[in-house]
Amino acid sequence: MAKFSVFRYDPDNGAIPRFQDYELPDVKGMTVLEGLFYILEELDSTLAFRCSCREAVCGSCAMHINGKYTLACKTQISKLQQPVTVRPLAHLPIIKDLVVDLTQFWENYKAIKPYLIPAEKPPEKEYLQSPEQRKKLDPHIDCILCAACYGSCPVSNGDPNYLGPHALLKALRFVEDSRDGAKHERLAIVAKDIGVFRCHTIFNCQKVCPRDLDPTGAISKLKIKILVEKMPFLKFLDK
Ligand code: F3S
Repeated sequence: MAKFSVFRYDPDNGAIPRFQDYELPDVKGMTVLEGLFYILEELDSTLAFRCSCREAVCGSCAMHINGKYTLACKTQISKLQQPVTVRPLAHLPIIKDLVVDLTQFWENYKAIKPYLIPAEKPPEKEYLQSPEQRKKLDPHIDCILCAACYGSCPVSNGDPNYLGPHALLKALRFVEDSRDGAKHERLAIVAKDIGVFRCHTIFNCQKVCPRDLDPTGAISKLKIKILVEKMPFLKFLDK
């Protein structure tokens, strides 16, 4: 048996936000996402939440569970204290219950141009990359854009225009890509006052990432790259 306390809010019906308690009879082996499905299918068909792949790949089910931003599909109920308290990601407009409006998140992501911008005409067949060049991307490439980092970042909370850890991590992914020709353009974008220098190195983003990526480290690397562009004698810092 498990007790769930789930945030409920529907801006369209005028009711004030509240927590609603549910009792789930048998949760053996269940994840929080499966618990939410149990509520939806057996107890309360009005509950709204977002999910898709159910295996920590799509990033749709990021929420705040017992004080942590994480993926509901990756969190076993048996490992949690009860009641299991489930809230939506913070500081984003709520569409309904656990579903938040990610428009600003995606706007910020788009701002760093999250696609390859080749320097030259594309090759006839394919871009070639050495294993060493490809290896440089490994620490940044696995982001599933779940927004757990964005929800956990107090700077994003205070300033929605701050590009945010997800966008900055992705910016570094392209800056480090040997096939990309827009390094200077990207660094100029993240050097703006809504970019890397707005980060207070709070580490929340690094702590919550379900893929164990390091947006805090990526932001520091971008800061160094920006400084090296302005002061090439600091090149030794850019490893
Ligand atoms: Fe926010 Fe992460 Fe920087 S939590 S302040 S982006 S280190």
